[in-house]
Amino acid sequence: MRHLFPSEVDQAAALLEQGIPVAFPTETVYGLGAPVSQAQAIRKIFQMKGRPSDNPLICHIESVSQLPLLAREIPPSALMLANHFWPGPLTVVLKKQPSVLSCVTGGLDTVAIRMPRHPIALELIRLVGEPLVAPSANRSGKPSSTTAQHVLHDFQNEAGAVIDGGKTEEGLESTVIFLAGSKPLILRPGCITQEMIADVLKCEVGIARGRELKASPGTRYRHYAPKACLRLIRPGDDILLSPQKRQFLIATQPAAGYHFLTASNLYALLRQADDEEVEEIIVVCTEESWNQAALRDRLLKAAGAADS
Ligand code: TXA
Ligand code: MG
Repeated sequence: MRHLFPSEVDQAAALLEQGIPVAFPTETVYGLGAPVSQAQAIRKIFQMKGRPSDNPLICHIESVSQLPLLAREIPPSALMLANHFWPGPLTVVLKKQPSVLSCVTGGLDTVAIRMPRHPIALELIRLVGEPLVAPSANRSGKPSSTTAQHVLHDFQNEAGAVIDGGKTEEGLESTVIFLAGSKPLILRPGCITQEMIADVLKCEVGIARGRELKASPGTRYRHYAPKACLRLIRPGDDILLSPQKRQFLIATQPAAGYHFLTASNLYALLRQADDEEVEEIIVVCTEESWNQAALRDRLLKAAGAADS
């Protein structure tokens, strides 16, 4: 994989037009992109990631005028959220246009769409002239990439390129909200919260649980998982330090001997623990951090808990 400077975004666009995947920064995590109309390039992305083919991709647009290319029905709620939060870390799931390829949607009749808040991502979509599908740029089931080095680490022997935009700002993936049903339903929590969405829509916003989560195939698979086993504890719990085990200590408040965790460095820390080949990761999580739905969701998934 080639390592490109932001000034080489036109070269990246040329690669994409030839059907070669290109990773690019967004405000959340790096995405591994392909043009939405190029089935072969899209299949290549699934293959590079080792991603199950029924796990659909998010389409990234650079203007609200691209929505009708992808979505057959655009409810008022979608426009209200787009006006309020785009460009930004919110993905809306809408009924799809028949022209959207089934390899994009994993065979579903809905399509996920967002407008990222990153100048490189927006410029790249503009240059290619059509939406880009982009899953997070990591091997399937592993922590997402928040730097170009993470992307190169995962895909160094693959074709394609990554545009280096430095460290991403948010560090966790976008909020995904289903708007093709009777009421808005959050399928994946992100930094745009249930309360923020309800404030804009002035209606009840649900959080998908159990059976409702079947609407989002991605949530069925183990995610964000480091190689070591991860144990979550509360401040004051016995951390069971073991001299025989290589342990990696993380805390959500600054403390001597602990790596300090925030939403924006979670994936970097999980990757560092993997690089150091530790056997166990212990995360001491304060109640305040536990109350952040997106961080809690990723921590539970990294710990191997089924649903959150
Ligand atoms: O922040 C993000 O969203 C990043 C950046 C690159 O934009 N992308 C990302 O993509 O996280 P990915 O592929 O790692 O996660 C997409 C999630 C998956 O859980 C997938 O199942 C869900 O969105 N999804 C995509 N299309 C869907 C659909 N039609 N219905 C329900 N869920 C969908
Ligand atoms: Mg992902």
